[in-house]
Amino acid sequence: MRRPFIAGNWKMNTTKAEGVALVKGVAEGNTAGDAVEVAVCAPSVYLDAVATAAAGKVGVGAQNCYHEASGAFTGEISAAMAKDIGCQYVILGHSERRHIFGASNSDVCKKVHAVLAAGLTPIVCVGELLEEREAGKTADVVAEQMYGSLAGVSAEQMNSVVIAYEPVWAIGTGKVATPEQAEEVHAGIRALMTAKYGEAISESVRIQYGGSVKPDNAAELLSQPNIDGALVGGASLKADSFLGIIAGATK
Ligand code: PGA
Repeated sequence: MRRPFIAGNWKMNTTKAEGVALVKGVAEGNTAGDAVEVAVCAPSVYLDAVATAAAGKVGVGAQNCYHEASGAFTGEISAAMAKDIGCQYVILGHSERRHIFGASNSDVCKKVHAVLAAGLTPIVCVGELLEEREAGKTADVVAEQMYGSLAGVSAEQMNSVVIAYEPVWAIGTGKVATPEQAEEVHAGIRALMTAKYGEAISESVRIQYGGSVKPDNAAELLSQPNIDGALVGGASLKADSFLGIIAGATK
């Protein structure tokens, strides 16, 4: 019922030529067809070139944007700019934005509204730190991020939102959450959405897992009932490994 959605987060990696070759390799090698939604989130300076090379065969997303429409915000890009050069998605509230650049839930929330207003799909990231998990606070942290980042988002708008659960301790560490650990949090996120938006909306929203997803662990994670896709960092930087993860979504 929920179409699996596999998105690559290239972070601050690739040259322009590498990014263009990578998206072409993904487009050419992807045999999943309509069964899996696929996107790559490239560095903002390469989005134009990557979207052109993707030629509509692979979706393209930005890794962040600012909430204002235009003006004196040196160094920022708007959601409308991302849309203008062919993006369909914007990652928001990634743990690196939250923990390195100090993005708060309220910052993320303003951006979610701006991205929705521009007609794009926000991929809203939530996830706990290792010390929060060890202190038994995972559900509370995720609930606070969910409610704070999605404040004022209507049930109808939720249809255009994707959630990514990314435990911070699993990002870039090779230490993937077990399918059971991930599923427990995903089911909790879905229960939060049911309480706030009702069952029909909650059942239709995709929740990606992110954090050390690789071709050899993707299928098992994606077979969990509430894991509807993956947000992939390191393994999205090579077409072969990203394609292996896409294949895992069809098993
Ligand atoms: P990783 O990153 O796959 O390299 O762990 C995931 C992410 O940060 O989205």
